[in-house]
Amino acid sequence: MGAIVLVGTQWGDEGKGKATDLLADDVDFVVRYQGGNNAGHTIIVDDVTLKLPLVPSGVMYPSVTPVIGDGVVLDPGVLLEELDELVAQGLDVSDLRISGNAHLIMPYHRELDAVTERYLGRQKLGTTKRGIGPTYADKASRVGLRVQDLYDMKIFRQKLDTVLKEKNAILSRVYNRMPMKAADIETEYAVYAERLRPYITDTVTLLHDALEDGKTILLEGAQGTLLDLDHGTYPFVTSSNPVAGGAMTGAGLGPKHVERVIGVTKAYITRVGTGPFPTELSGDIAERIIDVGKEYGTTTGRQRRVGWFDAVLARYAARVNGLTEHFLTKLDVLGEFETLRVCRAYRYQGEEYEHFPPHQSIFHHAEPVYEEHPGWRSDLSEARRFKDLPKQAQAYVERLEELSGVPIRYVSVGPARSQTLERG
Ligand code: IMP
Repeated sequence: MGAIVLVGTQWGDEGKGKATDLLADDVDFVVRYQGGNNAGHTIIVDDVTLKLPLVPSGVMYPSVTPVIGDGVVLDPGVLLEELDELVAQGLDVSDLRISGNAHLIMPYHRELDAVTERYLGRQKLGTTKRGIGPTYADKASRVGLRVQDLYDMKIFRQKLDTVLKEKNAILSRVYNRMPMKAADIETEYAVYAERLRPYITDTVTLLHDALEDGKTILLEGAQGTLLDLDHGTYPFVTSSNPVAGGAMTGAGLGPKHVERVIGVTKAYITRVGTGPFPTELSGDIAERIIDVGKEYGTTTGRQRRVGWFDAVLARYAARVNGLTEHFLTKLDVLGEFETLRVCRAYRYQGEEYEHFPPHQSIFHHAEPVYEEHPGWRSDLSEARRFKDLPKQAQAYVERLEELSGVPIRYVSVGPARSQTLERG
């Protein structure tokens, strides 16, 4: 009963799909509340692996209604392709519900995302080039087109004509690109409108009615805390609010509806795209983690940067999300190492920081203060209870819990649902 927020505590790719899978039996709705097809949840159920850039992972479970909430940005062509693929895999997607308030990613958003990245050169953010930033920028500027505009083509065209005038001027005069034609976009989007029509719903009313009926809602964050527009490592962030607060605005719920806030936390850290990363590793250890942990982007295939666990970030995520518990993932990936390092604080100009530093320059130049822990040098994937884990692995988890200040309730030792150890 009530709402559960599931949020990544790092730079995304923490394994949120796995956590959703575990909780799916006990929830009635799974809601995406922010981001778009820049995300990439990997879900493994039985022998089927699905990669879901946009559709909420609830689509995998017949008893769950998947919902795309108001705070999401939606590329209709991409969504329809994803739905076709799911149908081809034998899934029933007819329960999907999409908010009419979600903003549409338009062709000029994708184009602008790509050309502005190129223009930034070495200063680029390393975006997914899916048009996410430009779409949210238009939303904030109040010139965005929303899903509901698809159902009044006169208004759609009026808004499109207005905004396209400016976009075409920028595309052609600043970036030397071909201008786009409103008529072509209208024709393309009118086709999407018809195909999407059955899914469009007043999702806020749907979710509130569900709560009143005693149903449980899982609010599934995409990306992670440090990619949050307000609380992440700005400007190397995404353009939405993955943090738990964003789940409220993005789904249209209030804090009183939330009963649990679960932080999905990897036993080490990864990041894609550019930006500071104090515990980043290179060399053999990094290569082994990338290889064993299969650290490649779900959506873009990019190799992820990897680093040791950073307790400063874990503490920060616990605070800004109001975490009630952690779901620790990929502990098994660290099974090869003699010694593991954990960053307990940063050092900058002789001063130690246990909490996320208030100025970006400190974070950019932070030197990790490490403690060392003995590795367990064994395969954890067969463990089914926490107490089955080697002593060193138990001690590592207990230390992460102590450093972050929030209980670690689940520990994952492999991709399958059965490879999750629930602690008391
Ligand atoms: P954007 O969200 O495409 O604008 O990209 C902004 C930053 O967020 C880039 O560094 C991306 O690599 C990163 N990013 C966006 N989505 C994800 C994700 O799902 N996982 C990890 N990083 C992401």
